[in-house]
Amino acid sequence: MKLFAFSGILAFTEAKQIWSWGKKCVEAPVIADFDIERYKGQWNEVARYPNNFQDEEGQCNRATYTDRDEISVKVNNTQIIERDGVREANGAFGQAIQEIEDKPNWLTVTFNLESGFANWISRLFTSKGNYKMMGTDYDNYAVVLSCQRYWFITVEQAWFLARDPNFPQTDQFRELMDDAVENWGVQEDLLVYSDHSDCSWDINTQFDWGDV
Ligand SMILES: *[C@@H]1O[C@H](CO)[C@@H](O)[C@H](O)[C@H]1NC(C)=O
Repeated sequence: MKLFAFSGILAFTEAKQIWSWGKKCVEAPVIADFDIERYKGQWNEVARYPNNFQDEEGQCNRATYTDRDEISVKVNNTQIIERDGVREANGAFGQAIQEIEDKPNWLTVTFNLESGFANWISRLFTSKGNYKMMGTDYDNYAVVLSCQRYWFITVEQAWFLARDPNFPQTDQFRELMDDAVENWGVQEDLLVYSDHSDCSWDINTQFDWGDV
């Protein structure tokens, strides 16, 4: 167990990930009336912190949330990667669960990996309510932060999602970003913006492992 935790920390400190020493995670708000029904549907990732599990050259990053049960939704994350002129859609399936009763906007997101062992390892590092919905109006934007501390190392994730991929060109986005910087400590200069200019693909290599 200890060994896994240690190698996990090494993996997390790769350059791409946003990490720091001893930083406190920002306190996420509780949205008591968070409505997972209204959150369903398709979201375009417009900006994010770089991380280890999304390709830097990925385009058209999308998350689609669909019916699962009363307290959870299915997650379908996709991106398009162009290699040798072939545009490949790939991604991962998982689930987002409202696991903490009095914090409905603190979702637990896990992905369905190809082996039981890989799932076990990844779930070991997934804390309850890891995916914090900081704010959403359901119709335009959603901001999600994730922050985990491993001993002295703090690893942060951020995603700005929008129904319309051109949302970053709006005044509403500017206001949202200013609020996110001020209230939630988002570091704007660390964000990378996703390209949604061409979302066609030639092949789709997504494979649904189902609930595991
Ligand atoms: C996942 O989403 C992509 C589009 O973003 C879609 O093409 C694909 O069919 C979806 N997969 C499932 C199983 O719903």
